[in-house]
Amino acid sequence: MSEERKPDKPVKGRKNGLYRGISEELEDGMRRGWSDTERHDLEPSEQSGYAAKRRKAVSAAFPGERIIIPAGRLKTRSNDLDYNFRAASDYAYLTADQTENSVLVLEPQPDGGHAATLYLLPRSNRENGEFWLDGQGELWVGRRRSLAEAAAELGLETLDSREAAQRIAEAVAAAPHVITRILRGHDALLDAALAEAGATSRQDADAAERLDEELKVFMHGLRLVKDDWEIEQLRRACEITTRGFTDVVRELAQAVATSERWIEGTFWRRARVEGNDVGYNSICASGPNATVLHWTRNNGAVRPGELLLLDAGAETEALYSADVTRTLPISGEFNEIQRRIYDAVYDAQEAGIAAVKPGANFRDFHEAAQRVLAERLIEWGLLEGPLERVLELGLQRRYTLHGTGHMLGLDVHDCADARCEEYVDGTLRPGMVQTVEPGLYFQPDDETVPAEYRGIGVRIEDDILVTAHGNENLSAGLPRQADEIEAWMRSLRG
Ligand code: GLY
Ligand code: MN
Repeated sequence: MSEERKPDKPVKGRKNGLYRGISEELEDGMRRGWSDTERHDLEPSEQSGYAAKRRKAVSAAFPGERIIIPAGRLKTRSNDLDYNFRAASDYAYLTADQTENSVLVLEPQPDGGHAATLYLLPRSNRENGEFWLDGQGELWVGRRRSLAEAAAELGLETLDSREAAQRIAEAVAAAPHVITRILRGHDALLDAALAEAGATSRQDADAAERLDEELKVFMHGLRLVKDDWEIEQLRRACEITTRGFTDVVRELAQAVATSERWIEGTFWRRARVEGNDVGYNSICASGPNATVLHWTRNNGAVRPGELLLLDAGAETEALYSADVTRTLPISGEFNEIQRRIYDAVYDAQEAGIAAVKPGANFRDFHEAAQRVLAERLIEWGLLEGPLERVLELGLQRRYTLHGTGHMLGLDVHDCADARCEEYVDGTLRPGMVQTVEPGLYFQPDDETVPAEYRGIGVRIEDDILVTAHGNENLSAGLPRQADEIEAWMRSLRG
């Protein structure tokens, strides 16, 4: 189904297909009688202008070198079924496109700069029958843009992606001294083609690996500061997510009657209707499941009196993801111990958010939040002070477990491979977007805490934009404070 086929090679039916063959009359007839649907009215998309600026930054960073950014290929789910395709983030960032099997090539030019070519899957061939006989033909999967249509919308020269490996190999052979870098691990065919191509810079496997790693690190550094278009996307992702959480609260009774799966499905429906998908597998953790950080099995019971920890984010059509967590009382009201723990996490989040501002060390927000949590743990008698000793030894981590946040963007854990000096050991710059998500987790089998704490997990997570003078909470559309949560739930339940 995902096998590449030459345009001039007729496509045959599959084994165990119900039709034994194709008559010449049918084959011939299928070539004709189709109207010309080519569009000539397409303009460059708004995003394509931003993508062009981003490509300029790559071009300036790698003068005289060939840069290869693949979109990735379809992955088999089972037998002849593929997973839904999701383009590699760096590819989408630099092209504004999301087509499978594509690749962006930046070819260095003699007078400086680079020529950008996008290798794309074109419309299906009608002459050889691929459009109706191949599993990826347009009559099976839907109309694609023609290469000319894509060129008009993306502002890029386009060529057939089935020729990409061959053309890249020829370019390498014609100028073997030119350094070639590829974002590895997305397209096995291109990775293999480059390994074989024999460019001077790639004859030594270790050297090639270093070159490619540098490209990956550079891309993650470039994506740390979001442009205006990306910030609008993240704002939109948060808005969709707010509506998804609202849907879940409205449908809590059905979740109680079924399981956490109802919550997963409810949020997913909103993400699919208004966006591309969820940005990561939703964590719909009820009761003690909330103490499991990445609880995505979502097959547990939803019981009144317990808490629901919902960590979910919608991904926009352009693939930008929100990452939001709310911990909600399933019955609509926190009990005393739940509220005590909730308020501590809320105070820690407030302290964390206040530390997000331009020029601050990235770690500041984490340290501010951990300090509040450690103070409360000492106050409750769960840890022995003094506070500075607890923080120095990290003793609070038994109950806080994870870092207090991460960058957010095209990937939910965005820019993870950026240089540490630019990220965890760096300072915040306007345009960065990060989460602030402290939590407290008391495992059901933790004998170091009184019984009433056990099985309670609370996390509160928001998406924070660093602005010129401070920050903006992009997910402020959802209530956070305990009284506001209760009032919001009451209003939705009528
Ligand atoms: N939202 C899941 C995480 O940040 O790991
Ligand atoms: Mn997160």
